[in-house]
Amino acid sequence: MIKIIEEYTDNIKLFSLKDEQLEVHVSNYGGTITKILFPNREGKIIDLVYGYEDIAEYGKRDGYLGALVGRVANRIAKGQFTINGIDYQVSVNNGPNSLHGGIRGFSYQVFNYDIQDDTLILSYISSDGEEGYPGELTLKAFYSVKNNALEIKYQAITTKDTLINITNHSYFNLNGDASSIHNHKLLIKSSFYCPIDKNGLTNGQKTDVANTPFDFRKPTLIGEKIRMDNKQLRLGHGYDHPFVFDQDHDQVILSSDQSGISLVVSTTLPQAQIYTANYLDGRLGKYGQHYHGQTAVCIETQNMPDSIHNEAVPSVLLKKDAVYEEKTKYCFFINSF
Ligand code: BGC
Repeated sequence: MIKIIEEYTDNIKLFSLKDEQLEVHVSNYGGTITKILFPNREGKIIDLVYGYEDIAEYGKRDGYLGALVGRVANRIAKGQFTINGIDYQVSVNNGPNSLHGGIRGFSYQVFNYDIQDDTLILSYISSDGEEGYPGELTLKAFYSVKNNALEIKYQAITTKDTLINITNHSYFNLNGDASSIHNHKLLIKSSFYCPIDKNGLTNGQKTDVANTPFDFRKPTLIGEKIRMDNKQLRLGHGYDHPFVFDQDHDQVILSSDQSGISLVVSTTLPQAQIYTANYLDGRLGKYGQHYHGQTAVCIETQNMPDSIHNEAVPSVLLKKDAVYEEKTKYCFFINSF
């Protein structure tokens, strides 16, 4: 069932999407997920994602808490690229590079909304040249909650060849508080990760996870690996790396023994940036909690970061007349360990 639960302004609303046990709050401001409510093993309902009490904060802060990120998630080297012989410069907002769609990317935009049956449809028309990107891009994001799972489907078309890489930037803490995620177990069906430079940029090179702290092919406590002496972990201040998936479903599982809750992420996308919230700065979030580094995990499903420079056939290139379509499902359940 979908209901409008808050009307902040004439055009900014908060929606609740609910089945028997799972309730997700989504705003049409930035397509932002503000709450994910689910009962822990004692039956107490807890909130599994970070966010702010006041919707206005989402527009003022960085960090992309719960936001839909676009036009291009992750980094583009120097914010420069060439399509069909034309050079483009998009906004540079992260050291020398462009991050998460630029200065006012999709996370900071008000989407139109429509409710059709059990689906919330948020849509946004990004004008030709917005943040420097070519083509008028029309994005639709379909949010639905069913059988303890949140599914987000993304669909886009463009009037000129352009780049697109949409993700959701929820910060999960399955303890349901703002405590360290070192006690979370993580499983990533990924044999290769991409190393980063000091600015968090990848060059597309893939490294075998075997015998590194990036091997999560079996469920492993994050705390066991994140403190290892490793140059890549030092560069990222923890995990802030693309993991390339070995399979096309159920690629990531995150679990908290404290709450008993597990999350399975299943996506049509080929990889995810796993980010352990390393740069959270103690800012005030919901319930009077302060959010510090390494107290949440973002599972940012996406195509190859800086794909336009790193891939021979860039997966982020959306041709005029083609349709971008991807889907990520977040399924919650009480685990058995
Ligand atoms: C990036 C981080 C960044 C964070 C918040 C992540 O996707 O990889 O480096 O700090 O988003 O902007």
